[in-house]
Amino acid sequence: MTSSLATVAYLGAIILFILSLGGLSNPETARRGNLFGMIGMTIAVLATILGPRVTGAGIPWIVGALVIGGAVGLYAAKKVQMTQMPELVALMHSLVGLAACLVGFASYVDTSVVFTGAEKTIHSVEIYIGILIGAVTFSGSVVAFGKLSGRIGGKPLLLPGRHVINLIGLLIVLWFGREFVNAPTVQAGMGPLLIMTVIALLFGVHMVMAIGGADMPVVVSMLNSYSGWAAAATGFMLGNDLLIVVGALVGSSGAILSYIMCRAMNRNFISVIAGGFGGGAPVAAAAGGAAQPQGEAVPVSAVETAELLREAKNVIIVPGYGMAVAQAQHTVFEITKLLREKGVNVRFGIHPVAGRMPGHMNVLLAEAKVPYDIVLEMDEINEDFSDTDVSMVIGANDIVNPSAQDDPASPIAGMPVLEVWKAKTSIVMKRSMASGYAGVDNPLFYKDNNRMLFGDAKKMLDEVLAVLKA
Ligand code: TAP
Repeated sequence: MTSSLATVAYLGAIILFILSLGGLSNPETARRGNLFGMIGMTIAVLATILGPRVTGAGIPWIVGALVIGGAVGLYAAKKVQMTQMPELVALMHSLVGLAACLVGFASYVDTSVVFTGAEKTIHSVEIYIGILIGAVTFSGSVVAFGKLSGRIGGKPLLLPGRHVINLIGLLIVLWFGREFVNAPTVQAGMGPLLIMTVIALLFGVHMVMAIGGADMPVVVSMLNSYSGWAAAATGFMLGNDLLIVVGALVGSSGAILSYIMCRAMNRNFISVIAGGFGGGAPVAAAAGGAAQPQGEAVPVSAVETAELLREAKNVIIVPGYGMAVAQAQHTVFEITKLLREKGVNVRFGIHPVAGRMPGHMNVLLAEAKVPYDIVLEMDEINEDFSDTDVSMVIGANDIVNPSAQDDPASPIAGMPVLEVWKAKTSIVMKRSMASGYAGVDNPLFYKDNNRMLFGDAKKMLDEVLAVLKA
């Protein structure tokens, strides 16, 4: 393939990637968006393998790597549970970071191309920044994987003087950056490069360890953004325009997503990065922390739940992480269909951080074939709870916690929540009184108009469905 044909193929791939991102912004077009992405990636890989920069001797290596990588990807995609998706994504981000580091070192020791003067400086800066971003992304993503999969606790690690430690690290990185760029030989530059890599790896670990469990959604999208910038840096090092553009697309869309996440949780991006929020165990009221909920939780049976639903005119269903765990979405759809046939107005209220990844609930409901027009975002439906007969919370907790509004001392204070308690009756479906991801008690459970339907969401909904059908 000639160089100009490869460039045209790259351009086609870039357009397909942009169309792919556009498609992914809406559940109705997401499938098509994915298809565009797959075609774009196939074109990109083929144009690279057949392009002018790969010689015949390199092809068996590339094909071998493709087969191994493809097999691992296929196996992971088949085996991973929907609820483990964020962990998988974090792990994949770590690979992008690792690749950027390896490409950086390889292109530094590569003597086949000799740079001089300003070109040498530019190439050195590209390598230094590329490895820096790659190392932070790699170690940060590995820790994020550990936290999301429960291998590392959600409590933030708050070292004394952590901001000073970070600042000193940054100064050392800048100092060695100068040494590296001015190094006369590869041997002389290797020392500063290695020192910076170690500091960047430690910084990545420290940065994510300092972030509390409740802020993990932002961290995942932030690392997504970093992985994009790492790919763009790799593109600069390799002189590959496609990687630069695609890296910038991923980097900027990840940054926008992080912003949206922060807004959804009423968090300031800088304070998320500074860490310390959402430390797991709730703070005792006596210690001046969040108030403990008062009152008694009233249990309800599946039969009573079915009765309440049958008599309702307006129902809002709020799904959360527990619906994903129980895989209850298909039964939820069956119940929705049945109620709608009986003339009940059933709609869904989706919180932006419900579940464990952006769009988690939308994906599950779309899979169960719930019509898109009855699935509404939090902002679109929150006003309607006061005109609702029954709000049914399925395996959600933090996203319906009134203390976010009422208790300034709560760790989730200020986070917008779905106001399910404003309905005539709210029903919370979960297995126990346990707290949710943020580890915060939920006063909703003790409200007079709230009922608790204890049990696995799928099992309980099957029982409700059976009663409704009877
Ligand atoms: P959570 O607050 O985590 O609550 C989920 C509830 O589901 C739990 O309290 C659990 O209670 C219940 N549950 C678990 N398995 C169940 C089952 N089989 N059947 C019935 N109930 C079950 O979830 P949420 O309300 O969706 O809020 C999401 C939280 O995750 C937020 O704090 C958010 O910040 C965080 N987070 C979100 C993301 C993204 S991007 N969405 C990523 C990481 C973290 P029981 O144990 O009593 O059953």
